[in-house]
Amino acid sequence: MSLRITDELKEEIRSRNRLEDVVGTYVTLKRSGKSLTGLCPFHNERTPSFSVSPDKQLYYCFGCGASGDVFDFVMEYERLDFMEAAKRLAERAGIVLDTGDESSSERKRRQERETLYEVNGIAAKYFRYRLLKSRLAAAARNYLSSRGVSSESSERFLLGYAMDSWDDLYRVLQKRGISEDGMVLSGLVKKGKKSAYDVFRDRIMFPIRDASGRVLGFGGRALPGKGDDQPKYLNSQETPVFSKRRILYGIDVARDSIRRSERAVVVEGYMDVVTCHQYGFTNVVASLGTSLTRDQAQLLARYAPEVVILYDADVAGQDATLRGLELLRSEGLRVKVVTLEEGEDPDSFLRANGASKLKALLESAKNLTEYRIDSVVKNTDLRDASLKAEASRQCIAILVEVSDPIERLEYSKYAAYQLMVDEDVFLRQVDAASQRDRHAWDTLPKTRYTKQVKSAGQAGPGIDRRTEPQAPGAEQPLAEKLTKAELLLLSMVLDDPDLTALVDDRLCEESFSHESAYRIYQLVRECAGQARGEQLHSRLLARVDDEAMKQLIHRLSVDAGGVAADPKRTVVDCALHMEDARLGRKIADLESQLRESEREGDIDRSLRLRKEIMDYQRFRQETRARMSNPNAYRS
Ligand code: UTP
Ligand code: MN
Repeated sequence: MSLRITDELKEEIRSRNRLEDVVGTYVTLKRSGKSLTGLCPFHNERTPSFSVSPDKQLYYCFGCGASGDVFDFVMEYERLDFMEAAKRLAERAGIVLDTGDESSSERKRRQERETLYEVNGIAAKYFRYRLLKSRLAAAARNYLSSRGVSSESSERFLLGYAMDSWDDLYRVLQKRGISEDGMVLSGLVKKGKKSAYDVFRDRIMFPIRDASGRVLGFGGRALPGKGDDQPKYLNSQETPVFSKRRILYGIDVARDSIRRSERAVVVEGYMDVVTCHQYGFTNVVASLGTSLTRDQAQLLARYAPEVVILYDADVAGQDATLRGLELLRSEGLRVKVVTLEEGEDPDSFLRANGASKLKALLESAKNLTEYRIDSVVKNTDLRDASLKAEASRQCIAILVEVSDPIERLEYSKYAAYQLMVDEDVFLRQVDAASQRDRHAWDTLPKTRYTKQVKSAGQAGPGIDRRTEPQAPGAEQPLAEKLTKAELLLLSMVLDDPDLTALVDDRLCEESFSHESAYRIYQLVRECAGQARGEQLHSRLLARVDDEAMKQLIHRLSVDAGGVAADPKRTVVDCALHMEDARLGRKIADLESQLRESEREGDIDRSLRLRKEIMDYQRFRQETRARMSNPNAYRS
């Protein structure tokens, strides 16, 4: 929506949201002199170093340096952008924002989403009420207690019960003034031939909430012994706020714990989440399906740098699962895998073995690379030399994808050991393969630069507006407009800005196929000799406010450019390729001018152009002769 927040409005929102009150809802603050202190919500600590100044309306953490005003706090804590945070705070203070300038379709979409949140919210409370109070929910209550779900867990996850009735919910929603259209939109009610009816009947209800606790949809579990023709779990249909691809069950409850522990544990099912939390594993969420999506990966990446996958062995080894794990990695997450015995899930494991056993398992989690190597080895009869060679090739293909050379070496040793092959021979093969394959994008997870085709129309801020699908016709990522050589060059200089000195005299704006790429290059060059690593990154981002450019910088920065065996040579090669491409463009342009002048019979001009073209062709030959590998970086 195209709402503008004027400075005046911003100040009003600020003045009506006291920082200490807002922070106080998340952090227990104690007075200490002029300020208030508490445990920092942005990093893990035992002694309070987070302090809020009611006078200045600013906060600062002496432990991690987090700082800002009430807007920054909400943005950082809730992971919202400024506009979203401002809206949230305005709402909190009861300030009505004038959204008069949103288009009518935007307004309709927003109203639809608001209706959905309302309907879902009412339904969740109602299901909860039924579970707790209804005589007819006794079987549901018994079932939950037979599965050991404590009343605290039931409360924490707002578990409920949908009655064995065709219109129990319908009537409640009707009483609360929800239109039939609104009910149908939510998917909780369907239109039948004669009348509308409740979709969830006689099921234990698991509300699915977004990170800030809004109910997006439901999962409903059938009670045992009730007609086997019914699916065990029924999930809400897709709605403008509910998209199965974009939710993580339990994220609202697990969010803070994920942030503090700096890792998220991902399980498969509803009950796994409930039970894990009950046993003290509070950083657990469920993917509700085993092939994680990019949206889910991005959501996870927002809260923690590491994800531990905890699936049943059978499911964990499947290709769809592995692809999901690669997606996690391509979002820059460290990925570890723990597998349970086939047929076992975290819920049953905990009930049978207790928390300490699961804790030990989680601690023994294998890195994704090790895990993949194990999967190859496990399926190979190592007594057969040719099978062993094939398995080695598969492992080498996995290893060349590891961008950090030291990590690669460690995993290569691990693989050699598992494969029972001679370490030296194996390491040489890995080396040779990575040399052949050393150009960064070839070793990137394949999805990284592929266009993300997302369907339009299922928009909605379900989890977070930034994960909304792109509108049709929206800009494709900048990365896709660049050539391989440009991408590699940028990622190399981001890794080591000093490399710009080697290529600077070859590069100009025309060398890049997009001006934003040149702009990034210039910014990096300005930082040469001054900053690198994190510092460089934050300095660059502070100077860029174009989202597409920021996104490109993020992407390039997580693809350590250090993959190249010889960074200097590679960066020069990239520059030569870019020059080659630039000359190609130049020649094509001159040729079209030449055609035009020949048509017009302008002999002088034609001769001059011919000469110019020949000069450029000669430059191009010379440029090509300097390349160490003319066939690399073709895009
Ligand atoms: P499982 O069949 O492993 O169920 O499905 P579970 O989580 O262990 O459930 P309990 O312990 O029997 O109660 C794993 C997940 O797959 C989805 C659900 O998200 C479920 O939690 N699922 C399963 C469905 O969506 N529909 C189904 O019919 C079954
Ligand atoms: Mn189960």
